[in-house]
Amino acid sequence: MSQTEKFISLERQYYAQVFPRHPVVLVEGRGAKVWDVEGREYLDLTAGWGVCCLGHSHPKIIEAIARQSKQLMQVSNLFYTVPQSRFAQRLVQACPDGIDRVFFVNSGTEAVEGALKLARRATGKTEIISTLNSFHGRTLGALSATGQPKHQASHQPLLPGFQFVPYNDLAAISEAITEHTAAVILEPIQGEGGVHVAETAYLRGVRELCDSRGILLILDEIQTGIGRTGAFLGCMHAHIVPDILCLGKGIGGGFPLAAFLASERVMRTCELGDHGGTYSGNPLACAVGDAVIETLLAENLAERAWDTGKAAMTRLRKIEAAFPTLIREVRGKGLLIGVELISDEAAKMVVSLGIERGVLYNRAAGNVIRLFPPLNIPEELLWHGLDAFGEILKEVA
Ligand SMILES: Cc1ncc(COP(=O)(O)O)c(C=O)c1O
Repeated sequence: MSQTEKFISLERQYYAQVFPRHPVVLVEGRGAKVWDVEGREYLDLTAGWGVCCLGHSHPKIIEAIARQSKQLMQVSNLFYTVPQSRFAQRLVQACPDGIDRVFFVNSGTEAVEGALKLARRATGKTEIISTLNSFHGRTLGALSATGQPKHQASHQPLLPGFQFVPYNDLAAISEAITEHTAAVILEPIQGEGGVHVAETAYLRGVRELCDSRGILLILDEIQTGIGRTGAFLGCMHAHIVPDILCLGKGIGGGFPLAAFLASERVMRTCELGDHGGTYSGNPLACAVGDAVIETLLAENLAERAWDTGKAAMTRLRKIEAAFPTLIREVRGKGLLIGVELISDEAAKMVVSLGIERGVLYNRAAGNVIRLFPPLNIPEELLWHGLDAFGEILKEVA
């Protein structure tokens, strides 16, 4: 039995069988590369679901973990800690004016739960408008906000009070607002839904609509935030600021960490005891988050993601022109790019042929190849990944 077979069989015996996995057991990662238990090397264009914004095992992250883990790893929330205060300041200061306070959690779905509770608390209303094809997480509140029946179907009944409208359709939001509406929740780019980009006019229109109708705007930037789209936050391209902001994934660079943030006006509606969490603001997680954001800003990685993303799109459009019957569309922003293929089968083939060639691609929404590599990926590695994609399409064709 090979090492790969051994660990796959242990997983099959002991782990909940909920993930459709590729037959690869990863043991090591550095920068944009990972290695499996057999010693095979892969270029990782998935970056742990877009999480490893600084690449795998970045020295600043290792250093922060080593330093803080020796000093203080966990305290109860009855006490202040240095990393929590420092990181709160750094994160809020990196966000646009109007985002004034933060609450730290462990995962994206918890950030969305906090945002939904806060929206209800701040408005005294209970209805939420979300979009079809959206993804906001898998705990019951976030799942109730997720506009994809395939995720919701086996968990009914979900929370009441969620309405779903088409994405990029401002009139549909306007019509859905009732006297009970607390908030609209949106992703600036629907990532899990297949990399669908919100139009700038739409985002600005939603902001104005929320203001004029007295409801809150929650932006779920768990996938689009932390430099991914070529700005610190995806909403910064449209020059709008949400009332409540959800961050996750890249914020910890690979360490489990997420956050919801809000304006002073909204966050001050929370009173002592309204929300909490054993690990909220865990000193180790905050020390890592602080190192991630410090590095991201010092190395201008959002701007870099913008430039690299533009060059990548140009290369992908050439590939699109060469395979007009295989590729439906290339879309995205910064280093969150989707290549929509003609079928799920074609996308599945790309992923498995990629593994054979030593390049990891991710498939979203069935037929979309989603590229979200580390923001600091060396260009020659990214071009190698895109060239390999072109070669693979020849085989698929
Ligand atoms: C936009 C968005 N919101 C929420 C989530 C849920 O985050 P997590 O898996 O960390 O709970 C995801 C995860 O992919 C996401 O992309």
